[in-house]
Amino acid sequence: MPAFSSQPSAPIAVFDSGLGGLTVVRALMRRLPREKLIYFGDTARVPYGSKSPRTVLQFARQCLHFLTQFNPKLIVVACNTVSATALESLHHDFAIPVIGVLEPGAAAAVAAAARTPAGQPRRIGLIATEATIASQAYNQAVTRLDATIQVIGRACPLLVPMIEEGRLPDSPIVRSVLQEYLQPFKSLQIPVLILGCTHYPIFSQAIEETLGLPTALIDSADQTALVVAEKLATMHIANDAGTPLADGLTCYVTDQGQRFESLAGRFLGRLITQPVWVEPERLENPTVEK
Ligand code: DGL
Repeated sequence: MPAFSSQPSAPIAVFDSGLGGLTVVRALMRRLPREKLIYFGDTARVPYGSKSPRTVLQFARQCLHFLTQFNPKLIVVACNTVSATALESLHHDFAIPVIGVLEPGAAAAVAAAARTPAGQPRRIGLIATEATIASQAYNQAVTRLDATIQVIGRACPLLVPMIEEGRLPDSPIVRSVLQEYLQPFKSLQIPVLILGCTHYPIFSQAIEETLGLPTALIDSADQTALVVAEKLATMHIANDAGTPLADGLTCYVTDQGQRFESLAGRFLGRLITQPVWVEPERLENPTVEK
């Protein structure tokens, strides 16, 4: 079992199947501006959301193993699909503290449901990948917090490819796909909707407009950053000395090409240039040298 660094100066590693996890990086940078961050996006093998739990776990193990070479003090699994299907196994495999986005997202949704006016339905909507919906992991996490709330989930497999393709929220095709996916939530007048996929916050405004109702949209990024901050404080490994870092982020990706650079800005809110390319073969067989 790989060991981990307990030094405050060690980096936090963030893993996602692709680009979407940069929304979590953005929240971490805001809350923890002195922490060094290593981002790893498995852009050659995205999407994970349409793959089987077995494949997702295998890929996630390889990616986390890759990240251990940086001796991180903590790993954030920014991918909902991995958090929903593989987190428990990853906790067993790695001694490093691993935090997923699902529990923080569920907690934020239950808190938002508690703020809705009395008389509103005790229901939370969930949109996510096929694998996340099939896992029922959000339903279980919400039930653990409040057994009176029902989670109604809908897989939205077309959203990730549209976002990865750079489609803008105003595009007619995006609007028409959202109309179809969100119709059941409109009819049920769901007061809270979990955006259970790293990519969906990019379409937040379009989702709000399509619903046309006062619905609280839950994006787990901020809540996850809060959980990370609390964990670092509890373990006494927060890097809270010195001035905030101007650029403490290094990105690694498995697909070569311009897509990461051209799309990353939409997720992170600023440009990223020159991510480091990691050959996928190195992940599958760690003994292969670059
Ligand atoms: N990162 C994935 C998630 O949050 C979305 C992309 C994928 O399907 O791999 O579920």
